[in-house]
Amino acid sequence: MSIKINCLNPIAACGLDMLDDKYELTENVSEAEAILVRSAVMHEMDLPDTLLAVARAGAGVNNIPLDKCADEGIVVFNTPGANANGVKELVIACMLLAARDITGGIQWCKENKENADIAKAAEKAKKAFAGTEIKGKKLGIIGLGAIGVQVANAANRLGMDVYGCDPYLSVEHALNMSRDVTMVKSNDELFELCDYLTVHVPLLDSTKGMFNKEAFDKMKDGVVLLNFSRDTLVKEEDLKEALESGKVGKYVVDFPNSNTVNFPNTIVTPHLGASTQESEDNCAKMAVHQVRDFIENGNIKNSVNYPNCDAGVCTTQGRITVAHKNIPNVLSQLTALFSKDGVNIENLVNKSRGNYAYTIFDICSDSSEAVAKELAAVEGVIRVRIIK
Ligand code: MLT
Repeated sequence: MSIKINCLNPIAACGLDMLDDKYELTENVSEAEAILVRSAVMHEMDLPDTLLAVARAGAGVNNIPLDKCADEGIVVFNTPGANANGVKELVIACMLLAARDITGGIQWCKENKENADIAKAAEKAKKAFAGTEIKGKKLGIIGLGAIGVQVANAANRLGMDVYGCDPYLSVEHALNMSRDVTMVKSNDELFELCDYLTVHVPLLDSTKGMFNKEAFDKMKDGVVLLNFSRDTLVKEEDLKEALESGKVGKYVVDFPNSNTVNFPNTIVTPHLGASTQESEDNCAKMAVHQVRDFIENGNIKNSVNYPNCDAGVCTTQGRITVAHKNIPNVLSQLTALFSKDGVNIENLVNKSRGNYAYTIFDICSDSSEAVAKELAAVEGVIRVRIIK
């Protein structure tokens, strides 16, 4: 029987082409073993018992109920970095739109298209659209993941003075970042220093509303704030005041809502960050690759609610995976059950992340339903899968 995949949003064809004849696309979520999603909101959805994995073709996962999924043994993946270049290019473009009134100038040309003397009129009109250059200005980047680092490097090459802050900076991202980027210890330092601020952090309870009155008060007068992460990182009633007073000179946001589309000095784009052919292709391919590796091999890469756990392709006779709570005594009970049944464990990979853990057992005999049933009965076990 084929493995059923549901696409809650359109997913690039090159990703779906990676699903071979073991797989079948279904419109019916209630029979899906995996869901591929972009921006569809899943919080109120009933998740079927068949569901093993959700893969978000993108970075942000605020549209997916991560804890609910984890509690039901559903592994949620995202595709970090796959759309980073697309987002970076839009951030740079919009920083230029904030610095120079390019859109005002384009609008003027449209409005004056009937004017036979438009060339002459333009020379008079253009002073209304004059701006500033970004070269030499200070850019502060909050969050140096795949996108933040690419923005840092591009802005640096455009002659900006780039500063960054990220307490969780990974070795990989640090190695990819230009040495000209100055790291600071706190966002407050960026607020005090920078002419432009761009935020590239996930929306979490701890980051929601992080741009509030207290933060705006610490910023330079006339600062330009770019938000290509999520709208609710910003407390919009405080932002409105900061825009009206001129404290924030411009707000650029890629998430339209009924507040921001009416704010002064605000440039709003309709969530276009990753809307490029290349980003859509990269995200789709990465999402499908991760889902296949999980379904076929039980490996977890780039999950946002379970630990990464990779045992490669199974070379022993059997493989069983167990998603479980990260509590004492689960692993010892699981291994004891294998030994009680005379099953030798050839390889074992166990990883934990927060409240959840995941274990891959490669065993010397065929996996049996009987053993899987015993494993599933251990307290703290969430889901057992026979892979081979
Ligand atoms: C992301 O979360 O990756 C970006 O917001 C882009 C997108 O969702 O398309």
